[in-house]
Amino acid sequence: MSAKIIPDLNRAAAEVSDTLYGIFFEDINFAADGGLYAELVSNNSFEYFDRDGKIDKHMYSWEKLDGIDCEVRSDRPLNEINCHYLHIARGGRLKNRGFCQVGFAVKSGESYNFSLYARGKKQTVTARIVTESGVLVGETATKITSSEWKKYEGVMTSWLDAEVCALELIFDDSAEVDIDFVSLIPEHTYKCRKNGLRADLVEMLADLEPGFMRFPGGCIVEGRSFANMYRWKDTVGPIERRRVNWNRWQAEEYQPSGRDSSGYYQSFGLGFYEYFLLCEDIGAKPVPVMNVGMTCQFHEGLLVPLNELQPYIDDCIDLVEFANGSPDTKWGALRAEMGHPEPFGLEYIAIGNEQWGDQYFERYELFADAILAVYPDLKLLFSAGPNCEGEYYEQAMKWIAGHRDLAYATDEHFYKSPEWFYNNVNKYDSFDRTLPKVFAGEYAAHTSPERRCSWRAALAEAAFLTGIERNADCVAMSCYAPLFSKTGCFQWQPDLIWFDNSSVYGTPSYYVQKLFSNNVGDRTLPVCCDDHELYISATEASSNGSICLKIVNATETEKTVDLSALNLRRRYTWIKLCAGLDAENSHEAPKRVYPSSKKHIGAQVTLEPYSLNVIIG
Ligand code: AHR
Repeated sequence: MSAKIIPDLNRAAAEVSDTLYGIFFEDINFAADGGLYAELVSNNSFEYFDRDGKIDKHMYSWEKLDGIDCEVRSDRPLNEINCHYLHIARGGRLKNRGFCQVGFAVKSGESYNFSLYARGKKQTVTARIVTESGVLVGETATKITSSEWKKYEGVMTSWLDAEVCALELIFDDSAEVDIDFVSLIPEHTYKCRKNGLRADLVEMLADLEPGFMRFPGGCIVEGRSFANMYRWKDTVGPIERRRVNWNRWQAEEYQPSGRDSSGYYQSFGLGFYEYFLLCEDIGAKPVPVMNVGMTCQFHEGLLVPLNELQPYIDDCIDLVEFANGSPDTKWGALRAEMGHPEPFGLEYIAIGNEQWGDQYFERYELFADAILAVYPDLKLLFSAGPNCEGEYYEQAMKWIAGHRDLAYATDEHFYKSPEWFYNNVNKYDSFDRTLPKVFAGEYAAHTSPERRCSWRAALAEAAFLTGIERNADCVAMSCYAPLFSKTGCFQWQPDLIWFDNSSVYGTPSYYVQKLFSNNVGDRTLPVCCDDHELYISATEASSNGSICLKIVNATETEKTVDLSALNLRRRYTWIKLCAGLDAENSHEAPKRVYPSSKKHIGAQVTLEPYSLNVIIG
């Protein structure tokens, strides 16, 4: 017996927003420094500091060798923002093993751009890349010629592939030199940009064809202290003038990788300009998240008093000018100076991350009133709290119901069991359509007891996404979280994409996201099925009438469906993603759970157990 998929005459078709499927980037799990940002030198400006003021971390990541005599100083610095540098009194060798102390990979034939700022006695400083076992990969000699700060540059080209390398700097015996801002960046970044991003990681994002990118967090936006809050103005302009901050994920008590993350900082080499550029490169609308004058409520929960919020509100207003303003304006001029005179086309701002309660609501209102007074068309995103149900959520929905004009959408977060995802596939069927739209801003299925990146989790997400798609009239945006994780150095799992020094793979959830995002029309096509164990959604493209149907069979039995009631083309494409529930991908087997595609003819389709099927025709 086959189940029939037929048009659902009780539901109307609706427009699908082009931001329905997006991505969420947060600097967690070494996603930025040591990840997406291509810089290979860790603590390259000697600015790491101990957040409790107990130990001096300015030399963190740097190993002193061969009798070098050096100390971190701060008199007459390169600039007043990054005010520490290294003074070398007697020569020897310095070694930097990169982020998380796991070194960095090099590829044969690839060039690496080296630079540093220096001042001091005339002499030659040699930079070299060496492998773990001491094999010389490349070398460049720099002649220091000035007693004032000056930038020196060189290039090293690798003659071999190596997974774990370090950068070494060798100074004369008679050194007496100051150095700062040591940098090593592969020439081959995404689009070969100078202060660029790791190409293989950006390609994984581009392949998702995301409608938007939410950034830069998450909890790092909130921070754990006022000084730890993420402020975008710290992250733009010349990279030497970006204020280093510590990453709040270093302070997370639970580090599932078992690795010490106390060296986790934010250099901001990947800052707001680079985020906007990334969005443009991958065709995603930028969705920045701004601090609302509150630190993380799960921890200290510090509040900026209401009468001191103006600088934070200005951050939002100035950000719109930075992104969209003419080069004649203050912040537009900075964008143009950084290399992008054209506007970035910012349409959305999220005010606050995962905030809740009256203290949030009163702050949100002040922000929204002030921003909308200047930019009435901006789409503001309001936080529904850390959960998409329960007390905080109810309070948020009640508040926003009384302030509908102040938000385009409410940002809901849900990290729940696979069972919850199945039980809530219809969650938005009864959502009040007169409220602001839904932004499912962070979600992932968490298996228990270990939060595995398994097909079990991904299949539940796929089922849930059929519900999101069916309700695309009220769900405007959705994105999985977190996006990236560095193998062996992470603070949170599951994650969508895993990488190490040289390779990257997508989890089963990645392929679910990709299939939904790559195959969606601009109108919903309401359909229903007489087999209630199947989860389905369909959209169509108004340009050519092609249909895109998604069916999840989450049972252990094969099922046959009959599609003859749909107006499918005779020969259609059938993409299948299926596996055993515990199957996972890995660096060794990156495609264990991977879609396969074929052309198919005929009204009957047999769905494998535990499968996601996408039918396009
Ligand atoms: O995605 C990981 C974290 O989960 C985010 O930083 C935060 O918003 C949520 O609690």
